[in-house]
Amino acid sequence: MRFFDILDEMFNEFEEYRDIQKGKGIRGKLITIINPEAQKLAAVVEAIHLASLLHDDVIDEADMRRGVKSINAKYGDFTAIMLGDIIYSRAFYELTSFDEKIAKLVSNAVYLLSQGELEDVKLSKEINLNKEKYMQMIYKKTASLIEAACGAAAISKGLDERDFMVYGKNIGLAFQIVDDVLDIIQDEKTLGKPSMHDFYEGKTTLPYILLFEKMDFEEKNKLKSLYKKRLSFEEKKWIKNKMKEYKAIEESLNIANALIKEAKEAIEKYNIPQLLEIADKVISRNS
Ligand code: FPP
Ligand code: MG
Repeated sequence: MRFFDILDEMFNEFEEYRDIQKGKGIRGKLITIINPEAQKLAAVVEAIHLASLLHDDVIDEADMRRGVKSINAKYGDFTAIMLGDIIYSRAFYELTSFDEKIAKLVSNAVYLLSQGELEDVKLSKEINLNKEKYMQMIYKKTASLIEAACGAAAISKGLDERDFMVYGKNIGLAFQIVDDVLDIIQDEKTLGKPSMHDFYEGKTTLPYILLFEKMDFEEKNKLKSLYKKRLSFEEKKWIKNKMKEYKAIEESLNIANALIKEAKEAIEKYNIPQLLEIADKVISRNS
């Protein structure tokens, strides 16, 4: 993928950057599927994403990222924040040479994703059982940049951006829901962190919200008492069994599936099979 090479060219001079493990590059992939010429745009969006993760790991006090030690764990918070700022500001410098419509779309998404991160932090202070607040937060935190990436790629190709933005937004929402489901159902080795870490961090993600809606009074109290606690094997098992009983995971994945269906319908007429494949992979992925 050429956009990863452009990214390396921009930042390889920073030794700490070279320790960052590459991710799936979903934003860059989407951009270059929509417009194979838009490699630079893909690198810019991936750079913004990378910077946001460097800051996010400081905020979440995460030791691991993509199966290796996070930059904050390896070099400390100051380095992670500054490296994030370096990557972020260079991305914005590069963005100024794009069409104004593209620059505005992408920079507005960064404004939204920063708000989303703040909402995530606030919602983690006490148990959140409001589905709308959760959906709004994941739209801003995760879907907004994917939405803008797809829209910007469409503009760069001379296509109407609206359908591609609907596609990107719904893929992004589904992606975050699946991420939140994997935190519960996946084994710790694949996750690279303890399972059910979100709940420990104070994040009541969609499966917990749906579970809570179905529980009786006593069960609700028990679930509340486990919030932000280091869970024992038995406690994790209890939550997982209740999720099975009340179909909280199944229901969450149904919601993600409906979003994927909407995403695919929005861009069906453009006949780009790779976009449909990526949409399906969001649901079937296991990491
Ligand atoms: C990951 O969420 C976090 C994001 C997708 C967005 C983070 C955004 C900021 C820190 C705003 C600052 C932005 C810039 C560009 C400097 P998560 O913690 O749910 O996911 P994880 O499990 O991958 O950590
Ligand atoms: Mg995080």
